[in-house]
Amino acid sequence: MTDSSRPIRLALAGCGGIAQTHLEAIARVGRVKLEVIQDINPTAGEQAAAKYACRFTKNPDELFKDRNLDAVLVCTPPATHFEFVKKIVEAGKHVLCEKPFTTSLKDAEAIKKLSAKSGKLVMMASKFRFVSDVIEAKKFVESGVLGDIVLSEVIFCSVVNMERRWNADPGISGGGVLIDNGSHAVDVIRYLVGPIKSVYAQAGKRTQNIAVEDTARLHFETETNIIGMVDLSWSLYKHTANYVNLFGTRGTAEVGWSQSSIWDAGEKSSRVFGNGYKKLDAFVRQMEHFADCIQGKTAPILGIDDALESVRVIEAAYTSIREKKWLKVHP
Ligand SMILES: NC(=O)c1ccc[n+]([C@@H]2O[C@H](COP(=O)([O-])OP(=O)(O)OC[C@H]3O[C@@H](n4cnc5c(N)ncnc54)[C@H](O)[C@@H]3O)[C@@H](O)[C@H]2O)c1
Repeated sequence: MTDSSRPIRLALAGCGGIAQTHLEAIARVGRVKLEVIQDINPTAGEQAAAKYACRFTKNPDELFKDRNLDAVLVCTPPATHFEFVKKIVEAGKHVLCEKPFTTSLKDAEAIKKLSAKSGKLVMMASKFRFVSDVIEAKKFVESGVLGDIVLSEVIFCSVVNMERRWNADPGISGGGVLIDNGSHAVDVIRYLVGPIKSVYAQAGKRTQNIAVEDTARLHFETETNIIGMVDLSWSLYKHTANYVNLFGTRGTAEVGWSQSSIWDAGEKSSRVFGNGYKKLDAFVRQMEHFADCIQGKTAPILGIDDALESVRVIEAAYTSIREKKWLKVHP
């Protein structure tokens, strides 16, 4: 726990695409002070360090050795997450690590052991848990207004050319769209409707010239027998207004990009709620939550077991693609 009378001293590792949104969010959270940005490539890192008035370094050891730092935010490509998180935790600092948490279950399990030993907070960044419409949808699930939830769906499909990005290199990414957008999908399902018991996954026709799947479909069943499906693609638009749909015996909740709605089966009417996907708001909320957890004000809504489970479900899904069969997530 960190003394709440002083700011939390944070470092950022990896200053590429997603780091820019985190940086904007950090600047809005007064009790978090960005001290240093680390990146192997100085171009973006030095610019951001000047903009956000902090130091820049190319050397990751500076983060681990700096006794003044309380926490590190990891925004590097997936294959580097394990080493970063391991060294940060061993150095006695808290960590918020972008998804996918790790590229193998073995690594995630090793981190769980380390974090238990150190007592430091290890959180996977999972922005959808901090989107207000998703939070509202969870309240509907818990209040019972949707009745018994039977079916659920998640859709993350849009065209992104990955041919020149690390995402297309399995040695860096750990896989294709399934581990990339699938990590978000699996966590939002677990958040809304509970643990996933079994999976059946398929890789779609590959339309980009890359070494990983660019489209995937994941069928799942939860521990409470809710069934559902996740569609993921970097190569097509599945043009729908919503990205999460929950179907219950008394109603439907649809969480959308620009607004969300709830359909009451009894009244045969629907009501709009929320204001859609507000990325920066979600990142600010996530950083506030991380700070609250570090200062001992609340328990993480996304613990180490949630991070571990998201890796376990994705790993089971890849095995399912290879073996072409349904698999239990915990065999
Ligand atoms: N939450 C989200 O919505 C979201 C969106 C995109 C990406 N991500 C995740 O964030 C992470 C970064 O993705 P990105 O799209 O920002 O990638 P990116 O390629 O835009 O940025 C990665 C940065 O890390 C740096 N880097 C690479 N190896 C490094 C190392 N060993 N040490 C220090 N710096 C290193 C690169 O130079 C680059 O600046 C990935 O895990 C990705 O899955 C999350």
